Amino acid sequence: MSKYIVTSALPYANGKLHIGHLAGAYLPADIFVRFLKLKNEDVIYICGTDEHGAPISIKAEAEGVSPKDIANRYHEKIKEGFDAVGIEFDNFSGTDRQIHYKLSQDFFKDLDKNGFISIKTSKQLYCEHDKKFLADRYVEGICPFCGYEGARGDQCDNCGKLIDATALIEPKCMICGNTPVVKETTHWFLDLPKFGDKLKNWIGTKSFWKDNVHKFIMSWLESGLIERAITRDLKWGIPLPIEGNDDKVLYVWFEAPIGYISSTIEWAKNQGDDDLWKKYWMDENTKLIHFIGKDNIPFHTIIWPALLMGQDKNFVLPYDVPANEYLNLEGKQLSTSRNWAIWVDEIAKDFDGEYVRYYLAANAPETKDSDFVWKDFQNSINNDLANVLGNLANRVFTFIAKFYDGKISKYSEVSDSALELLNSAKKIIREVETCYQNYKVRKATKLIIDLARLGNKYFDERKPWKMVKENKEGASETLYVCYQILEIISILFTPVFPKKMSKLRASMNLKSDFNWDDLCTEITDDVTIGEFKPLFTKIEDKEIDTQIEKLFANLKSKKKEKIVHKEDIEFDDFEKMELRIVKIIEVEKIKKSKKLLKILVDLDGEKRTVLSGIAKNYKPKDLIGKKVVMLINLKPKKMMGELSQGMILAATNGDKLSLLTLDREDLDIGSPIS
Ligand code: MF3
Ligand code: ZN
Repeated sequence: MSKYIVTSALPYANGKLHIGHLAGAYLPADIFVRFLKLKNEDVIYICGTDEHGAPISIKAEAEGVSPKDIANRYHEKIKEGFDAVGIEFDNFSGTDRQIHYKLSQDFFKDLDKNGFISIKTSKQLYCEHDKKFLADRYVEGICPFCGYEGARGDQCDNCGKLIDATALIEPKCMICGNTPVVKETTHWFLDLPKFGDKLKNWIGTKSFWKDNVHKFIMSWLESGLIERAITRDLKWGIPLPIEGNDDKVLYVWFEAPIGYISSTIEWAKNQGDDDLWKKYWMDENTKLIHFIGKDNIPFHTIIWPALLMGQDKNFVLPYDVPANEYLNLEGKQLSTSRNWAIWVDEIAKDFDGEYVRYYLAANAPETKDSDFVWKDFQNSINNDLANVLGNLANRVFTFIAKFYDGKISKYSEVSDSALELLNSAKKIIREVETCYQNYKVRKATKLIIDLARLGNKYFDERKPWKMVKENKEGASETLYVCYQILEIISILFTPVFPKKMSKLRASMNLKSDFNWDDLCTEITDDVTIGEFKPLFTKIEDKEIDTQIEKLFANLKSKKKEKIVHKEDIEFDDFEKMELRIVKIIEVEKIKKSKKLLKILVDLDGEKRTVLSGIAKNYKPKDLIGKKVVMLINLKPKKMMGELSQGMILAATNGDKLSLLTLDREDLDIGSPIS
């Protein structure tokens, strides 16, 4: 038996959980842990909130409360979210606790003692207005690697690369919006290059890691390891354990992963055995598995292992780091700032939490980004669950109750078709096991639903409703076999549906302390069923419509800015503008610009070139032939080496630009607008 420590990324205690978090780092881990527990493996599932770092102090400043208040508030809310969907940790701690302070400072001291830390003066962004060094998320700008606007001072959310804040293009202070200056300050650096060989050798043994994780690490290692600052000029955090320098704190990404250990120490104390944590963290046979979202890859596969390698104590290194891709929402990236998100506590109020587990498991972003679509959610609950699995259970219970008084005996002989079904079931059991073992919950759920489908097919073919009249024993065999299929499903689906499967088993009069091995022991007894209530209720159209409305309403309410009117103008001022209808005839991209398109328009014979900032909203080919309104007499202006002769009118809708296109035949090109 191996020992396992399974962790999920410590969520920042600065906001509620949304379904993207759940699908990436928590649900897959919870399912994996429940599977291991079913297999009687020795496993602990560890998590807690990440309570330091810039996001929390930014929020605290915005609300005029202390960072500790924010951390406490969201620690509770996050825990409620996890409870609502049955994410069950063995311990859920937080990084602002004493155990964690001490351990993090010890980590630093060991690294320092072992020569892995150096002090350097470095250039940092500083806001003159706020009199503050802008650490990490205190600053945003354009990513120097991929051009993404809204990259943060430590990392780009788009390409995942770690960023030195001074390299950001057009940096802005997140507190006041001003452009910061560059100033020198002293920091403590982790000498990552010193771990280079050790890291490379270690990663060389990890050929079984997921492709996306491997690719990321390889490109990181190729671009060369550099020293990384592990302190920050902030007030909120764990003080640097060096005399006279306690105005600096440890970088949140230095100490947060250490939270996996401190949370385990807390767990051990709660178990009444203070040293129990060592049996996991200091045994080289323990499998340490970190579930994370893809933006956390560099920290868990390079920096964190280096921190562990630099300790005097022999900590186990990560065995696997199954990182997931992102979950989108209705085709668009989730965004908490624009409220384009579904909050876990809210969805779990409106729907059964296990529906959410099922849909997210069936659509887990394992190898590529996946999409949460409300209609799809409804369909998969109504079809896979209610019509397939629910239906199988309903018919088995109804028939046994109606024709056999709730009690049937095991068949003496088994028909060929039953044998075939039971053999398929055996194969599916093995496949599902492999899937769970390899974090493939998507495929696991599909296989189990397929098994329910096979059960229904068998039921339909055997027609017990007819058979019961002429061959009561034959019909009973059919029901018994279907009952066996349901029993198998009740175990296979336990990691995804812990509550529903336990209810199902209770109705089936099956034992409540069961494990994976029970899949191999065939039931031979007579079966008596208990009281049964349908497992799944269908979701109505109107419930989904309400959700879709709410989603869009939230989006707008966040985005809508107060209308600020401009000052009145004379009619003459308006008259000065020459507005005309033109037709777009050619469009091309401008190489050096992500925003601009070069557009050639026809103004009834005369042609003009205009540069328009709509490259993000339109594909060139979709614009050809469109009639639009253009301001003709705007002074020509040179941009990106091209002359723009006018301006095409567009409406600003949130952060999207929409051209005012006209699809009317009766409006001629060149017509003036007044
Ligand atoms: N709080 C981080 C995030 O949400 C994850 C921290 S994981 C840990 O992206 F390893 F540092 F704990
Ligand atoms: Zn500022």
